[in-house]
Amino acid sequence: MKERAIILTGDRPTGPLHLGHYVGSLANRVRLQHEALQYIMIADIQALTDNYDRPQKVRESVIHVLLDYLSVGINPEKSIIFIQSMIPEIAELTIFYLNFVTVNRLRRNPTVKSEMFQKGIEDHVTAGFLMYPVSQAADITIVKANLVPVGGDQLPMIEQTNEIVRAFNRTYQTDILVEAKPLVPKTERLPGIDGKEKMGKSLGNAIYLSDAADVVAEKVMKMYTDPLHVRVSDPGRVEGNTVFTYLDVFDTDHQNVAELKEQYQRGGLGDVVLKRRLIEVLNAFLDPIRARRKEYEAHTDEVLAMALEGTQCTRAVAQQTMQEVKRAMYLNY
Ligand code: TRP
Repeated sequence: MKERAIILTGDRPTGPLHLGHYVGSLANRVRLQHEALQYIMIADIQALTDNYDRPQKVRESVIHVLLDYLSVGINPEKSIIFIQSMIPEIAELTIFYLNFVTVNRLRRNPTVKSEMFQKGIEDHVTAGFLMYPVSQAADITIVKANLVPVGGDQLPMIEQTNEIVRAFNRTYQTDILVEAKPLVPKTERLPGIDGKEKMGKSLGNAIYLSDAADVVAEKVMKMYTDPLHVRVSDPGRVEGNTVFTYLDVFDTDHQNVAELKEQYQRGGLGDVVLKRRLIEVLNAFLDPIRARRKEYEAHTDEVLAMALEGTQCTRAVAQQTMQEVKRAMYLNY
């Protein structure tokens, strides 16, 4: 029999989750929770590495993200949801791992590098931000996860984690730490409504899982299509056309999508008709999510209590791992 996978995954609570999060990893988590032991972490400490001066925003986002999880169908009976800051063992393990990573290596981490560039902080990056991949390695290894469902932008984090795992095991002559495999979806990145490569809150191009139906309609109507497709009768491009990219992902009627593509390329299919179809498809996808959110929103105390229970359960596992780590490091006083 195949061994049951242990999953550790999570999100920074800096705002509500969007369709890009869904495609990037939420869909995989909903699917995998039935077959794996899945830990899902609200990465509030990591969120603070670039929001340390906005702690209230992070705190408010925690409940938002929890509601997003439950609304998309993450089942707290199947998945263990926990809050990073309530597991001090993760911070402790991070300190131990820092000895295995050079500052230059962190500066070269492609994800950190592009984030520093985006924020324009290459020259004055804080130690906390620069080392968040090390803390992420602690997140993953504290529960000995061997599978991490994430979007493609997180691959360098898993690579960094495995480097640390190998260096730790080699140095302390042990095999207690476990390497992890990333699980990246087929469509690894959903573009924003402006057609830009990535959907992101800071880019202002996101459709949120918590958006109302009319907000979704408004955003789809603004969506980037083919700038050369001016008249309905003009032939249009399907590649790079955001509406088709979304239909490919969310429309379960593949035959219909194929026909729409043909008609669009031939000419005679207007953007508005096409967009109406996408609005219908997205709202059909989001309606059950909205219904579940409504129920949970009325019981946020219970939602938080569920996360605290998951945290307790995770903490017991974290303490066990730390005992083994400390023994390997001659710190077992
Ligand atoms: N870095 C991830 C993000 O930006 C969040 C995260 C923190 C994470 N720790 C993790 C993801 C561990 C997977 C595994 O969304």
